[in-house]
Amino acid sequence: LHRGAGKLTKFEDEPKDYAATDRQSEKVKTDQCPSSSATSSSKPQHQPEHQPKSGPDLISRFSQSKLNRPNQGQQRSNHLERRDALLETRKALPIWPHAGSIRSALRKNNVLVLTGETGSGKSTQVPQFLLTEPWCKKCIAITQPRRVAAISLARRVAEEMGSLMGNQSPAAKVGYSVRFDNASGPNTKVKFLTEGMLLQEMLRDEGLLQYSAIVVDEVHERSVNVDLILGFLRNLLADMARRGKKRADPLRVVIMSATADVEGLVHFFNDGVKESGESEVDGLEQSWSSISPDNEAGKVSRKNSGSSSVVSTCFVEGRQYPVKTIYLPDPTQDWVESALKVIFQIHLKQPLSEDKPGDILCFLTGQDTIEALERLVNDYAQLMDKEIPKLIALPLFAALPQHAQQRIFNRAPSRTRKVILATNIAETSVTVPGVRYVIDCGKSKIKQFRNRLGLESLLVKPISKSAAIQRKGRAGREAEGHCYRLYTEDGYRSMDDRTIPEILRCDLSSAFLTMKARGVDNVLDFPFLDQPPREAMEKALLQLLHLRALTETGSISETGLKIAKFPLTPTLGRVLIEAADPERDCLLDVIDIISALSVENIFLNLVTEEGKEKAESARRELFRREGDHMTLLITVQRYAEESSDRRVWCGRRFVSHRAMQHVMDIRKQLRQQCIQLSLLSLSQSSPPASDSHTQSILQCLLRGFISNTARLMPDGSYKTLIGNQTVAIHPSSVLFGKKVEAIVFNEFVFTSKAWARGVSAVQLDWVQTAVEEIM
Ligand code: CDP
Repeated sequence: LHRGAGKLTKFEDEPKDYAATDRQSEKVKTDQCPSSSATSSSKPQHQPEHQPKSGPDLISRFSQSKLNRPNQGQQRSNHLERRDALLETRKALPIWPHAGSIRSALRKNNVLVLTGETGSGKSTQVPQFLLTEPWCKKCIAITQPRRVAAISLARRVAEEMGSLMGNQSPAAKVGYSVRFDNASGPNTKVKFLTEGMLLQEMLRDEGLLQYSAIVVDEVHERSVNVDLILGFLRNLLADMARRGKKRADPLRVVIMSATADVEGLVHFFNDGVKESGESEVDGLEQSWSSISPDNEAGKVSRKNSGSSSVVSTCFVEGRQYPVKTIYLPDPTQDWVESALKVIFQIHLKQPLSEDKPGDILCFLTGQDTIEALERLVNDYAQLMDKEIPKLIALPLFAALPQHAQQRIFNRAPSRTRKVILATNIAETSVTVPGVRYVIDCGKSKIKQFRNRLGLESLLVKPISKSAAIQRKGRAGREAEGHCYRLYTEDGYRSMDDRTIPEILRCDLSSAFLTMKARGVDNVLDFPFLDQPPREAMEKALLQLLHLRALTETGSISETGLKIAKFPLTPTLGRVLIEAADPERDCLLDVIDIISALSVENIFLNLVTEEGKEKAESARRELFRREGDHMTLLITVQRYAEESSDRRVWCGRRFVSHRAMQHVMDIRKQLRQQCIQLSLLSLSQSSPPASDSHTQSILQCLLRGFISNTARLMPDGSYKTLIGNQTVAIHPSSVLFGKKVEAIVFNEFVFTSKAWARGVSAVQLDWVQTAVEEIM
């Protein structure tokens, strides 16, 4: 299938692997999202717009040359026209009729838990409903788990409000703030920001004084950051109830989710204020009856027993068309191949016309599988007959540069079908118009902390039923759709009901450092929505102690405070701080390595043996015997020095140009941050390459990744120095198959066996000295 164009005809056969039985289509009705049941068979009255809504028109308008750029007055009237046109669409959103009750809930109570199906209008409308409220004097923050959602929502809301973006005009009302990019201004009233950015802001502004309201969106994703934000907000509300010092005026909090555990959230916030020992919040008499959410659509409830609570709840019914589910008859291990087949089956069998879009959204596990499939789709698409509509593959994953992420929102040209190859980003976070077909590989890449080893590993695991339902729902946003599950019906049945919150399975050191830096002394007592296992909490504290981010007494150290200011894990932060030490003097080089480690993979992943061999010989000039980190450094430096065509340079070496652009953004930002923190001066340059310089770089890496070190055993295997776990060097490493006395690695991947990925060769005595230092 991967080779030889002749086999393309294979797709023209009726899909034999797939059979949608009546029983299966029946099933569609039962596992649709809860809110869809009422509308699954009847057509929604509202036909949502089919054109891209994220604002690319607006963007291209702004990027026009000066000559044909409309004058300011013209621009203003264009904005207002677009705003008025969009108003009708907004009015048809399921959330629109509930504006009044949402407003009045927040006049009475400080907290509102709002649930509603993806696409019902929560993220775009709620901030606009609140903007005109008398209590809303300052800015409204809306947090998002991902950059792409924060940016596209801000653009959409700017269009809906007829406003520019915060970085385009100081008067602009809408903005966003994401890592490496701030587009908010002095008059921004609605600001979309990633959860990480809000946590960063809380370092400087503990009481969130610049905001009148915080809207926490996509809570069902239960990222660690969202759990931290919820805990901080609960503490802040309790402080307000005590009339504490953090802020004088009340802060409104809206918790929004597609599938939240409403009751859990209500109790969480009620209990917080109750524990503060006060019975009055914002002039309201409070009592502490238990609350059960009122799931009657649109109804805002504050109950029970005739008494009031600090929390209101609201449920907005969504709209969903029926989606036919098609399972594989037999399980497969090769999702890339299966997905490729289904993509072409759909493309060749399902008609496409101007008024009937039929884009495909395919869920894969990560950058590597996405890029492999992207190349295959593009290769095969080029071989299709001219009469067949075109097919374009568009990747979507977190590490993709912004402009590439935004491409998915552009409407496909005439007679062209888009196939979006995405990670679980597209599950609930972003809505791509035009999608009628979903292909779900049934897996996602998750981080899992192994307490015994003290290592965090990246695992490809089956998704939960609730994630599978969300993925499927993406096909039925605008019309009836199809969902091809690349697993069997039994496979679906064996999935867990819900995804385990990240806080229960990840390395907590980053979260704990964040908390310590924000004044939470006793992290073990922090109000978590789900309490992480004690062993994991202790391991995290120990890890921070090893990194010298905490002092012996457990309070945050100077180094810890510096690390917390970087958008990096504590381990990478520690490496960076070490490199700034004048004795090491390798900060610029270490920034280059960290930037490359911050994107998923700068080297293109080739699927065929032939391709792999070609790539290896093309990249040989970049490979360094010291291992992957020095190889990354050379690659970044050569790319940065390239004065002619960087794209061509990348193409020749099978390096991802997209990833390298992102690396350059991160590098710039890290350099700026180091300058701000006086770790780097503007005139600083790297010392010339030498063995001792390389040694300094590797020793800095060791300082952060001391838990990720292994020594060569007499039988030729490697065993970690801490934890005594056998690991093998990953085939993607330049050291694969090599025997060196000791290694340091930045990633632990557990698939068929335990792999060390991102590996450098180090001397055993360096490792032993570093281990002794922390013991
Ligand atoms: O938050 P929720 O998923 O409930 O909905 P939303 O993100 O507010 O989206 C409401 C509607 O706005 C979607 O159905 C899209 O039609 C549109 N939208 C858009 O065009 N572009 C975006 N970036 C976000 C939303």
